[in-house]
Amino acid sequence: KKVGVLISGSGTNLQALIDATQDPTQHIGAEIVLVISNKPNVEGLRRAERANIPTKVILHNKYPTRESFDAAMDAELVKAGVEIICLAGFMRLLSGEFVRKWNGRALNIHPSLLPLFKGVSAQKDALAAGVRVSGCTVHFVVEAMDEGAIIIQKAVPIEQNDTVEILTERIKTEAEHKAYPEALRLLANNKVRLADDNRVIWL
Ligand code: GRF
Repeated sequence: KKVGVLISGSGTNLQALIDATQDPTQHIGAEIVLVISNKPNVEGLRRAERANIPTKVILHNKYPTRESFDAAMDAELVKAGVEIICLAGFMRLLSGEFVRKWNGRALNIHPSLLPLFKGVSAQKDALAAGVRVSGCTVHFVVEAMDEGAIIIQKAVPIEQNDTVEILTERIKTEAEHKAYPEALRLLANNKVRLADDNRVIWL
């Protein structure tokens, strides 16, 4: 399956997806054909270039509306033949039109065990809540932020002296970078799909 990855930053999850999809022993059954960033000069773009994956920078602030920005991304994804979209640290909300078009074919990763700690400060919120376990969630994309049927969750411990930075790093390396390729493998090989009632069906 042809995959397009949307990023806004460092792209360590993109790197995990590149490494897994390029490793024939992992049988991900997917190939990244396009990386789109809404920010220029980010490390994620350099990761894609190093792997010879085509990139596009589409600046959201050059578009009058969310819908027109999303339409520009959609045009590039279609042109590249993309069948599955992975959001990997993509920091823009997507419009209803875009999400409905890609319904069941778009994944997101979030650095908490959803439905706890939605939003942009998940690690900070987990530390503030005093929970002893957090982790990551890979889920289908729906219009509401960090909602959508869950495909995979992976837990990590929270240690006594954790800072936001330490916890963020642990969630990435021990949870996200394993869970995202695995979720992509499941979707690319038709082992999961999103039903009309917004639940995951395991096949
Ligand atoms: C990850 O923590 C992901 O869960 C969140 O944004 C972060 C992206 O990190 N949605 P990176 O750019 O993949 O390193």
